Amino acid sequence: MTNKNSKIDKNILIVANWKMNPVTLDEAKRLFEVVKKGVAGFSLPRRKLKFAIPEVEVVTCPPFVYLSNFQLSASSLQLGAQNCFYEEKGAFTGEISPLMLKNLGCRYVIIGHSERRQYFGETNEMINKKIKAALKTRLKPILCLGEKEEEREQIKEILENQLIQDLKEVSPGQITNIVIAYEPVWAIGTGNYCSVDDALSAYLMIKKFLTNYYSRNLANRVKILYGGSIDNQNAASYIKEARMDGLLVGGASLNASEFIKIVKSCQ
Ligand code: PGA
Repeated sequence: MTNKNSKIDKNILIVANWKMNPVTLDEAKRLFEVVKKGVAGFSLPRRKLKFAIPEVEVVTCPPFVYLSNFQLSASSLQLGAQNCFYEEKGAFTGEISPLMLKNLGCRYVIIGHSERRQYFGETNEMINKKIKAALKTRLKPILCLGEKEEEREQIKEILENQLIQDLKEVSPGQITNIVIAYEPVWAIGTGNYCSVDDALSAYLMIKKFLTNYYSRNLANRVKILYGGSIDNQNAASYIKEARMDGLLVGGASLNASEFIKIVKSCQ
C-alpha cells in the first residue's frame, strides 16, 4: 500500500456532483464562482509548463438548467452533466441528449449513478445505451457502479456484472474515454466511511476486469474514481492509499470552501 505521506504523482480528476441543488440560479452562480476562483491555478496554468507536473482537473456537474450559465472558455474548471438520454433528438419529452450537452460545452457526463438506478429504474441496458451515445458525441462518460449494503459479500460478482453489461460493445478504442467511478451505495450520502482497504480492493477488481476484458495497457489508461461521503479529511487517503485516480464528490461539493479544501488536499 502507498504511504500516507507520499506525494501524489499522477493526474487527478475531481468531479463535483451537485445533484438536485441548489434551488436558485443565484445560489448556483455564487457557488460556481467561488469554486472557480478557489481552484484557479490548480489545473490550466500547469499545462502551460514545459515540464510535467501532475495536474488536477476539476469538473462541476450542476443540474441541466444551470449549464448554459456556466459556459467556460479558458477556465480551470470543466463542465459536466449528471445524466443524458441515449438518442440525439426527437420526440422524447423531458429528456436531454448528449449532443445538447456537448453543444453547451460539457466535457463529461455522469451515467448510471446509483440514485438513477434506484429512483428512476435505470437498468444496465439503458446505461450501456447512454454510454455508447455519449461516446459517439465525444462526451466522456463517468460510469458509476458499486454494491449495495446487502451485496457487500458478493462485491466481485456485482461489479463484474455491472461492468460486463454497462461496457457491452464498448471497443478498445473507446474505453480510455470512459472514467469509472466506484461508489459503494451504502457510503453515498450516509457518512458511512468506506475503508481505504475496501476501496483499494474494489479498485484492483475493476483494474483486473479491464485488463482481462481489454488489455493491461488500456486498463492502465482508464481513470478510476472513488465516491461516497468524501470530505476534506478522507479525500487524499483514497488517492494516496487506495490508488484512486480521483474523486466523485456529492454533498461536500455544495460547500465551496469544503470542496476547495478537498481539491487542495489532492495536489
Ligand atoms: P456523497 O455523494 O459525496 O454525498 O456521498 C457522492 C455521489 O453520490 O456521487
